[in-house]
Amino acid sequence: MARRIYVAGGGYVGLVSAACYAQKGNAVVLYEKDRFKRRTVASGRSWFYEPKLDEILEDVVKTGHLALARNPVNAIANSDFHMIAVGTPTRRDGAADLSELVMACRDVAKGLKKHTRYVVVAIRSTVPPGTTSGLVRDTLEHLSGKRAGREFGLVAYPEFLREGSAVHDTLHAERVVIGELDKRSGSSIMRLLRDFYGRSLPPTVRVSPSAAEMIKYASNAFLATKIAFINEIANLCEHFENVDVMQVAEGMGHDHRIGRAFLNAGIGFGGPCLPKDLKALTSLARRTGVDLRIAETTLSSNELQPLRMIQLARESIGTLKGRTGAVLGLAFKPSTSDMRVAPSVKIVRALIKAGMRVKVYDPAATKNAKTIFGRKVIYCKDISECLTHAHCCFIVTEWDEFKRIPPNLFMQRMANPVVIDGRRLFDPALDPRITYRGIGLGGRPPEVTVDRLCDTESASQ
Ligand code: UGA
Repeated sequence: MARRIYVAGGGYVGLVSAACYAQKGNAVVLYEKDRFKRRTVASGRSWFYEPKLDEILEDVVKTGHLALARNPVNAIANSDFHMIAVGTPTRRDGAADLSELVMACRDVAKGLKKHTRYVVVAIRSTVPPGTTSGLVRDTLEHLSGKRAGREFGLVAYPEFLREGSAVHDTLHAERVVIGELDKRSGSSIMRLLRDFYGRSLPPTVRVSPSAAEMIKYASNAFLATKIAFINEIANLCEHFENVDVMQVAEGMGHDHRIGRAFLNAGIGFGGPCLPKDLKALTSLARRTGVDLRIAETTLSSNELQPLRMIQLARESIGTLKGRTGAVLGLAFKPSTSDMRVAPSVKIVRALIKAGMRVKVYDPAATKNAKTIFGRKVIYCKDISECLTHAHCCFIVTEWDEFKRIPPNLFMQRMANPVVIDGRRLFDPALDPRITYRGIGLGGRPPEVTVDRLCDTESASQ
């Protein structure tokens, strides 16, 4: 059965949800306050890069299943389900900034006032435990004059999609968590989800709103901890000959209690979610008087990890000053243009500070990179241009096209074939002429190559 759904917020969660619900035949109205974003979506395109999303948007905008609202209150008054998926960025003190959430709730409350039917409000934004049954409920009830649980339903319905596979994750979720204020609220949203997933309804956990909110934070904190843990093990592996963290992860991962996922050592976790949610969680714990030491340490451990790339480069080529670095990958992960809290930012800035001339290439994130680095780096149109005359190549994001670089390209293009692999894309055995250092790959550090090269060059001049 087709439903009328209102979605507030055209970010990753809101836009992908709106597109997918519309694709299933529902009548979805999206409200996004940013004019550029709203216009881009209204033209049937996404304002960020996300695989498969443009195809769906083009289709659902054309068929009219997805419409963009200029006036949220009217759209709310005509909808049965209201999903709030606005951003909850980090405040200066680390806590989640809930101001956009409050504004979205005010809009919904004004629309609710006009309703005569029972409708459901679902909070999809990541919010601290207690927010839905506290701040959200109070705002909705106060401004609408209606009672949650009686005249409208209220649930915390967190999202677990990953950027880069957001459409797939939405259509084939591994689990659904519903934090229901009361049974009727939960059952109403379950009806929508049964229509959406049909026979493949994922395992569903129905809990209180605060428990659902905690599940979201705890999940992201756990994933982040897993990454930070394997990164520290990787740093230790590097001190032992013939110890490779990838083999260690594989050996560990076969234990189903541990699992192989999220044991890819590298340059630290980034993006708009894991760091933000860990900060919000630790900030909440501090205010509650609880010591969340593992989460605190995960954050501080992650701060340092990108800088391992600089250390490995120094061990390989000596001083970085006056040399050229080729940075392959800027997005915080592949299949996205997102550079929010990307480890690449820290790495590029450290290279510039060390006096390197930095060339960069990313298949999708160059536009975003320009707003961060301005004219401080050289933007390249492809891998080959980026590698040309470089003394050291840094693999920062594991884009598929980097996995296919023929070893000969490093030899032909670079002034000195040195590869610092932050994502363990290459097999160093492929070409022994390349000086290769990979995160978590044990063995003796190579002899410094560029210093020697430069000495020889100056001696011959
Ligand atoms: C994360 C969670 O994985 C989602 O479940 C959640 O819904 C989302 O946050 C959110 O809260 O909205 P996302 O940030 O899109 O998703 O990306 P991840 O795949 O979790 O990667 C985050 C970072 O960890 C990336 O920088 C990635 O390179 C890094 N990572 C991931 C590793 O360094 N090693 C790994 O093994 C896995």
